[in-house]
Formats: sequence, structure tokens, C-alpha cells
Amino acid sequence: MTDTTQSPILVRPAETVATELRASPPRCLLVVAHPRLDRSTVNARLVDAAAGLAGVEVHDLYDAYPDYQIDVAAEQERLRQHDVIGLQFPLFWYSVPALLKEWLDLVWLHGFAYGGRAPSLAGKVLFCTASTGGDAHSYREDGRNGHSMDEFLRPLERTAVLCRMRWAEPYLLHDAPRLQGEKLEHAAGDYVRYLDALMREAAR
Ligand SMILES: Cc1cc2nc3c(=O)[nH]c(=O)nc-3n(C[C@H](O)[C@H](O)[C@H](O)COP(=O)(O)O)c2cc1C
Repeated sequence: MTDTTQSPILVRPAETVATELRASPPRCLLVVAHPRLDRSTVNARLVDAAAGLAGVEVHDLYDAYPDYQIDVAAEQERLRQHDVIGLQFPLFWYSVPALLKEWLDLVWLHGFAYGGRAPSLAGKVLFCTASTGGDAHSYREDGRNGHSMDEFLRPLERTAVLCRMRWAEPYLLHDAPRLQGEKLEHAAGDYVRYLDALMREAAR
């Protein structure tokens, strides 16, 4: 689990912060990708917690696009309107759920997300929140999955770098099936503190 007492959360320095980031409080777009959020324990609770935070807009991709017909222009505009972009998902086959990949493939286009003179995402913060069935130990070189989460999340980190965004420490919840009751409530509170700290840092 990410330790929110450790600062800074932002890994990449604020070299290209757009001026509007400092002029007004940062706005966070939390893009949630869970094909069965109605059956989810962990992600559903985290979404509820995040939705209560001022400045956070939750965007449930599977609810918006059950048929995968993504409105690319609307999604690009939504991204333009926010300063901190979060991708929240359960880890599926060491990767992101299919609709999130489709959304990245169709929306984060050359000239919009990267390349060209003024890509629209430069200077924004990108973070991800991932829940896993495996426990923390399994995501170590000597564990069952043989690699750390940093390694499995490398494609998203490199996407941030390519788009000249600032990559933040991911928020990870391991051992999801056993995260219930008090433990889950603790995680939800921790998530709110993580988001709050991230938005404060993004504002600097
Ligand atoms: C299709 C599928 C693939 C999964 N792949 C992984 C995986 O690669 N690694 C892992 O640790 N857990 C994996 N899991 C477990 C989920 O990550 C876990 O059930 C989820 O994080 C629980 O969150 P929820 O309560 O919000 O549904 C997989 C689950 C499904 C359904």
C-alpha cells in the first residue's frame, strides 16, 4: 500500500506545469475501469471515497461505454479540463482491463496526447490506482509473480513520460479478496489522504 505520509508522491519534477495549474485549485479526473463495479468490493469502495473529495470527478468507463463506442472528442475535452488524471482499475492479467486499453488507444492520439508543438496533456499529473488479487510479497522478484508492480506498470509510466506528464507514485491495494471490513475502511481513508496530498502537490 502506498504510504501517504511519505512525500513527495510526484516522481517527476514539475518542469512543464501549465500556468493554469497554479492559478486555480487542481481538478482531478479519476477514470475508473472495472467491468463489474456492481460486484466489486475494493474498487467500488475506493470510488465512493474519492467521489466525496472536492475537485475530483469520477468517470466510470464501463458505465459510459458498455458497447466500447468511445466518444473520442468528448474524452479529449474531458482530459483537457483536468490537471490530475487518475486511472483506477483491478489488475487483469498483469495489465489494465480491456476498455481502459481501448480508451488509451483511441483517445491518447498523436498531436493530442503527445507529439506536435503543444500536446494537451503536457504538465498534467498521471497516477494510477490498482488493486491486485496477489499479495504484496507475490509482487517481488522472489515472489510468485516474479516482478514488482513498478515493472508491471511501466507502460503507464512511460506513457506519462512520452506525453510530458508528471508521473506520481501509484496507489496499490494488494490481496484484494481479503480486504474487507475495517481493513477496507482504513484503505478508503488512506486513499482519500493520498488523493488529497497528490492534488496539493500538483498545485505547487
Ligand atoms: C480476468 C481477471 C484477471 C485477473 N488478473 C490478475 C492478475 O494478473 N494479477 C492479480 O494479482 N490479480 C488478478 N486478478 C484479480 C483481481 O485483480 C482482483 O479480483 C481485483 O483487484 C479485486 O478488486 P474488486 O474487489 O474491485 O473487484 C484478476 C481477476 C480477473 C477477473
